[in-house]
Amino acid sequence: MTAVTDPLTLPCGVTVKNRLLKGAMSEALGTRDHAPRPELPALYARWARGGTGILLTGNVMVDARALGEPGNVVLEDERHLADFHRWAVQGSRDGAALWMQLNHPGKQAPRGLNAGGTVAPSALPFRADWPAPLPRRAS
Ligand SMILES: Cc1cc2nc3c(=O)[nH]c(=O)nc-3n(C[C@H](O)[C@H](O)[C@H](O)COP(=O)(O)O)c2cc1C
Repeated sequence: MTAVTDPLTLPCGVTVKNRLLKGAMSEALGTRDHAPRPELPALYARWARGGTGILLTGNVMVDARALGEPGNVVLEDERHLADFHRWAVQGSRDGAALWMQLNHPGKQAPRGLNAGGTVAPSALPFRADWPAPLPRRAS
């Protein structure tokens, strides 16, 4: 019989220490220039010490021109590597696997958040009930 506390080897070969996973929940804990604020390593250290096998981060954006919400962390160059390193070390305590969720919002970016407008693979609207403008097609 398999228990939730048993290790799990994934098809890619990575073994996680148990079958518990914290889902991705956007933290909005970025600084004004989109570095991870110190609260992030502190928060993930606490979750890691709690014993969860996999900690999925909330959205980390790949382009500061394409934010999904205010307070997003952005990883697009090496400017904030020391902060990301602290986050990775603390979130990996006690054998937890810290997995970063990378995100580009495309046409889901809210209206007015990105000065250069909203860019998506195609110039199609998202949803009628979503406060997003019609995106410009990426070139
Ligand atoms: C506050 C909050 C923030 C979330 N942020 C993200 C996110 O950054 N990335 C993501 O893929 N899903 C995000 N989600 C969706 C959750 O990861 C999850 O898929 C959703 O809550 C449904 O899970 P459940 O059926 O267990 O409630 C967020 C959900 C909440 C409530």
